[in-house]
Amino acid sequence: MQHIKLINIVGARPQIIKASAISRAIRNHFSDSITEITIHTGQHYDKELSDVFFDELEIHKPDYNLGVGSARHGRQTSMMISGIEEVLLKEDPACLILYGDTNSTLAGAIAASKLHYPVVHIEAGLRSFNKMMPEEINRIVSDHCSTLLFAPTNAAFKNLMNEGFKPENCPPYSIDNPKIYLTGDIMYDNTLFFAGLAEKKKASFLDSLAVERDKYILATIHREANTDNISRLEAIIRTLISLSEEHAIRMVLPLHPRTTGSLKDKLAQLYKDLESCRYISVVPPVSFLEMTLLEKNAKMIITDSGGVQKESHFFRKPCLVLRKETEWIELVKNGTAVLVDADPVLIRKEFERFLDDGKGFEYPGFYGDGKTAEFIIKEIQLLSEHQ
Ligand code: UD1
Ligand code: UDP
Repeated sequence: MQHIKLINIVGARPQIIKASAISRAIRNHFSDSITEITIHTGQHYDKELSDVFFDELEIHKPDYNLGVGSARHGRQTSMMISGIEEVLLKEDPACLILYGDTNSTLAGAIAASKLHYPVVHIEAGLRSFNKMMPEEINRIVSDHCSTLLFAPTNAAFKNLMNEGFKPENCPPYSIDNPKIYLTGDIMYDNTLFFAGLAEKKKASFLDSLAVERDKYILATIHREANTDNISRLEAIIRTLISLSEEHAIRMVLPLHPRTTGSLKDKLAQLYKDLESCRYISVVPPVSFLEMTLLEKNAKMIITDSGGVQKESHFFRKPCLVLRKETEWIELVKNGTAVLVDADPVLIRKEFERFLDDGKGFEYPGFYGDGKTAEFIIKEIQLLSEHQ
């Protein structure tokens, strides 16, 4: 087996977490034949959105940090493209690995495909069919710049076929002859690996928040459509405050800085009400082990996050999705996740239904066997053999 060099692109919180599954598999099974290089675009830069994951998940530190920071979509993405291009020319890797659907993903896809480096897209094929979401544009462009596409679900695999990708393509693969795979989800690999560690290493975390197992609700909100639309954000926060008070139930709300910023700037009084609500703990973003512990022991999860929707399923928790649509449609079809939009009536109705009847659901294994990262790396090695 020839020795190959891979470049990972990370930038936003969930990508750092996802990359840890690939890093761990390389470290454990492929360290003789693969050198991994990581480019951090700098899209997320606060300690609790970035450094904490490198430390806690024992991922090797980024070899390059482009330090692009926050900016409008076009400016942010263009700075990333330019920085990634420089590194690709210097490092000359066998391929570039992209995760998910952020602006960092898009920038990697454009920079690498124009220089004719093969792009490997992990979490390919997901679609919301809502092109007002920046992530939907990022997904479509990234998939169509890719040579190997790893779809985590049946629905994602079918979406790729509907866009003209052919499962019967044979090697040698290229951007014009791409290979699509139906794999599991590397985030399921991570949950299996970290759930026990979270219980061991973060044993006192629930006590520090004064919440008891199975007696609190975990909520996250960060999606652009919710944070930048003040009436939606207000409706969601007001409904959470009312429900926590009426049911005297604790809620933990680790807030993304984008959400905190919008609340402070545009809904200052509501932010004060939220902070003073005796049932709700508003905390800064938590580490992945802390989040894992919070998810594992919650009664119910309320979120607009893609990753948190799936983790609800891994931990067998009912989930209210604060969106009109989701890419993870198998969860909604299964009845254990419900799309409640930002609609106070719907949020209330489904919250109360899950509170009364949240037990006895089935949580089928939609997301693979926990060894998806290993499978992906083997296929990347074969790609290099055929180049
Ligand atoms: C990004 C991704 C989104 C992903 C999310 C994960 C895009 C278009 N969006 O959204 O798909 O679900 O990451 O969390 O790529 N900010 C800070 N500190 C930071 C980073 C951001 O305060 O370290 C604030 C800034 O005000 C910034 C805002 O958050 O303007 C938005 O950050 P940005 O990276 O553009 O998008 P996210 O909402 O984080
Ligand atoms: N997460 C975390 N701390 C938090 C909130 C989320 O570690 O305070 C983790 C969560 O467990 C999941 C990932 O971040 O693995 C999801 O990221 P996010 O919600 O930011 O983005 P999305 O998945 O929607 O792109």
